[in-house]
Amino acid sequence: MSKGIVYILYGVSGSGKTTIGKKLAKDFDIPFFDADDFHPESNIQKMSNGFPLDDTDREPWLQRLANEIIDWSTKKGAVLACSALKQKYRETLKSIDPEYIEWILLDGSFDLIANRMGARKNHFFKKEMLVSQFETLEKSEEGIVIDIDKNSDEIVNEIKSKLNTNKSQLGLIGLGVMGKSLAINLLSNKFTLSVYNRQVKGKEVDVARKFEEEQSNNGRILGFDDLQSFVNSLEQPRTIVVMVNAGKPVDLVIDALVPLLSKEDCIIDGGNSHYKATLERSNKLIKHEIHFLGTGISGGEEGALKGPSIMPGGSEEAYDTSGLFLEAIAARDKNGDSCCAYIGPEGSGHFVKMVHNGIEYAEMQLLAETYHVLRFYANKTPVQIADIFSIWRNNGLDSYLLEITSRILLEKEGDDFLIDKILDKAGQKGTGGWSTNAALELGIPLSTISESVMARNISGIKSQRVEASERYQLKKSSISSDDTVFVENLEKAFKATCVINHHIGFELIKEASNEYNWELNLSKIARIWTNGCIIRSDLMEQIWELFLNNNDTSLLMLPDIVTIMKSNISSLSEIVSIGLKAGFSLPVLSAATNYFLTYTSAQSSANIIQAQRDYFGAHTYQRVDTSLDEYFHTNWKH
Ligand code: 6PG
Repeated sequence: MSKGIVYILYGVSGSGKTTIGKKLAKDFDIPFFDADDFHPESNIQKMSNGFPLDDTDREPWLQRLANEIIDWSTKKGAVLACSALKQKYRETLKSIDPEYIEWILLDGSFDLIANRMGARKNHFFKKEMLVSQFETLEKSEEGIVIDIDKNSDEIVNEIKSKLNTNKSQLGLIGLGVMGKSLAINLLSNKFTLSVYNRQVKGKEVDVARKFEEEQSNNGRILGFDDLQSFVNSLEQPRTIVVMVNAGKPVDLVIDALVPLLSKEDCIIDGGNSHYKATLERSNKLIKHEIHFLGTGISGGEEGALKGPSIMPGGSEEAYDTSGLFLEAIAARDKNGDSCCAYIGPEGSGHFVKMVHNGIEYAEMQLLAETYHVLRFYANKTPVQIADIFSIWRNNGLDSYLLEITSRILLEKEGDDFLIDKILDKAGQKGTGGWSTNAALELGIPLSTISESVMARNISGIKSQRVEASERYQLKKSSISSDDTVFVENLEKAFKATCVINHHIGFELIKEASNEYNWELNLSKIARIWTNGCIIRSDLMEQIWELFLNNNDTSLLMLPDIVTIMKSNISSLSEIVSIGLKAGFSLPVLSAATNYFLTYTSAQSSANIIQAQRDYFGAHTYQRVDTSLDEYFHTNWKH
């Protein structure tokens, strides 16, 4: 079965078939063959005795080439230089599906070729032979014609651009919800697109072809279930966006692609891959001279369709060529600039997306806690809570997550609120936990984010929680629904927690940037997050500005933020103490309070920890009254 394309350069002697063919083969990273090397011995004898070949002599030669073409096309394809002057010779060579043969006629005037041949050193040139070749040449209707009156590099470029005219500008693999939405977004931005989806009996049947049919009115789209044909349909250097589930599926796709790709092609992994896996994959692909962009994409299905926030990391060279597709389909910031920009090397794009999700987890949990106390401590109805959230949105606390939570609260099922029908067990795909692991590895705090992961985990042990609630029968207290002070305090606590959570997330990015020498630009990252993504918010707009000339300063240290925190922090402590006392668990609000109180304490309790470590393990400690270079051990058990 054909897999690779065979490019056949034909034309009279002296038209440059070998020179151009070799260059083309090098660029396409496929083998080059000269048809003259495949003559049977009898033909070689005849020619060396000075006799010209007739069509009967040519038959076994053409037949042999036809067989070789079958073989080459089952591999990576090839470039063949072959005079193939007559149509009937070319008919013999058509041994494979015509889709897999590209005919390229190198065309020049008699005088041009005669002059070039005459100028060749050590080359015996018979003018009559060229005359007869011109008489024999039957130009084909098929394939492309290249005028050779230019230098060889220009000829090669023209061939490539003419071959590319029917090819798609980029390819996309994986037509799940996100893949389809991104594909539609690419089409609406007028890119020509090839899509590939695997065939899985009974589950994923003709997905790509059906999608091609559905979208054929939206632009130029080609659907494939054969990977080689998909790859062949792409302009070179190729850009291929992979939208399959993170983990093993990404490796399977990459492994299948590598033998089919050429140098300088670029694979973009647009899933939520782990940043370390991204680094491994790019190292693997570097060996094949294939570029890799580990790219975080945020915004869910709607974002992918209308404009997501995009965080590409990896080869900057690849970004220069393939980044334009990503920038075109991304959301726009308030100035109209794309919410996609090169993040940094290696796995930095996926790292930044992972932290985005970590911040997302904590913001979601914060909203959950806020809703919960408003509902069950302050006795508000879902509609009243949605109204409170609307007021907060107008008070500079607007965010996508606050907006959707308000909408969720208004959703009814008959007379009931849908929220009351949803089981209180949170799912997760792991990115919040990955952020927590990264913080542990880098040795920095991630209080709000790690607590939000743990909150999802504890929500998961529903049956144990039900049993424990029966066993302990703890009472929760509540207040009158008219209490406005509580709601005012809660708004301030909410605001303070958002700031602390964002500070924590950006600190993780900063630490990774220092550790891995990524030189990440925090303001740029915040800008990309101002639209299209799940954590877009008024606060993010502010952070973008605040970090502009303060890449090395921590968010909580910036004067504007200090002012905000000073006017909100006491409400945060107040809410946490009231809530805990009333019997409500507030993991993220408490984590934010604890983080902030420790962060702003010159004297922490860790002197006791150091003393304990030294007591039982002689781990030594530093002293407040000596140089920090000195370490002390006390004989505690005297
Ligand atoms: C986004 C989201 C998206 C996805 C998360 C949710 O930015 O568009 O973060 O990537 O919804 O993976 O993850 P959980 O299933 O772990 O909540």
